[in-house]
Amino acid sequence: MSPDRITVRVPATTANLGPGFDAFGLALDMWNEAVFCLEGCETYVDFTDAAADSGQLPTGGDNLIARSFAFLYEKRGLTPPAGLHITCTNRVPTGSGMGSSATAVLSGLAAANAFLANPYDKDGLLELATELEGHPDNAAAGIFGGLTVSLTENGRILTRRFDVPPFSVALAVPSFYLPTRAARAALPECVPIKDAVFNISRAVMVVEALRDGDLDLLGRVLDDRLHQPYRFKLIPGCFAAQDAARSAGARAVALSGAGPSLLAFSAEADCPAVAAAMQRAYESAGLACRSFVLATSPVGVQVSI
Ligand code: HSE
Repeated sequence: MSPDRITVRVPATTANLGPGFDAFGLALDMWNEAVFCLEGCETYVDFTDAAADSGQLPTGGDNLIARSFAFLYEKRGLTPPAGLHITCTNRVPTGSGMGSSATAVLSGLAAANAFLANPYDKDGLLELATELEGHPDNAAAGIFGGLTVSLTENGRILTRRFDVPPFSVALAVPSFYLPTRAARAALPECVPIKDAVFNISRAVMVVEALRDGDLDLLGRVLDDRLHQPYRFKLIPGCFAAQDAARSAGARAVALSGAGPSLLAFSAEADCPAVAAAMQRAYESAGLACRSFVLATSPVGVQVSI
């Protein structure tokens, strides 16, 4: 029998991790939660927490969670149920580079999957999420937790998950509107082969450094020439925030996803100072900014009935 109420929790994620453009994802211990009930005759979405800027989000069937829910039903050749009430507690800042859209997509897909008695396994959900997101990196980490590396092969997604030792990262989230679409439009169609080589070798080493918790190695290899040079220029205060993080003890700094947030790796004890330094630098550039110190999450999406 189909359940009448389902709760889904999905973690924040940071994608790219420097050289792993569109491939790497890391799950973080900050969770969006959505409770799904089938009742009434219209789809509507409530937000119980505006801390993640949810006030801007659609509250009807055009909401991304509701659209993702309907998408899975339609993939099964089914009409989505008429009355869907979703109550969201959003903590992941919206449009920030911390995977908020992936949390929405995965919430909707995971809930619909549970209502239909789980026709899709995690790999199947990732393929649906990638159709909606356009790239698998945030969604893979959101599903599997830990560190993920993904690629798209003839429309199928191949993902591997890696355990990482527990550690925290510092993030600074400036209030600057940079839609992923615009951040992707800023990238060139072609890149010089030397830039591709620069990234390939570093990408492998970033995985090794994260798996070993090796900050020295991470500090030497967390760099990128495929997307960050084009995106940093779009974000006021980004270069200054990167420098401030390093001065406060960060060993490696990257754009979180497509930005505008910055992600910094440092010794655990330095994380609060690094986060505060990045926040101050963005504020000095005239942007309101929040900062966080977050542990990584070894687990991804959680569904309870
Ligand atoms: N890999 C994607 C990008 C992440 O950098 O555009 C966006 O969330």
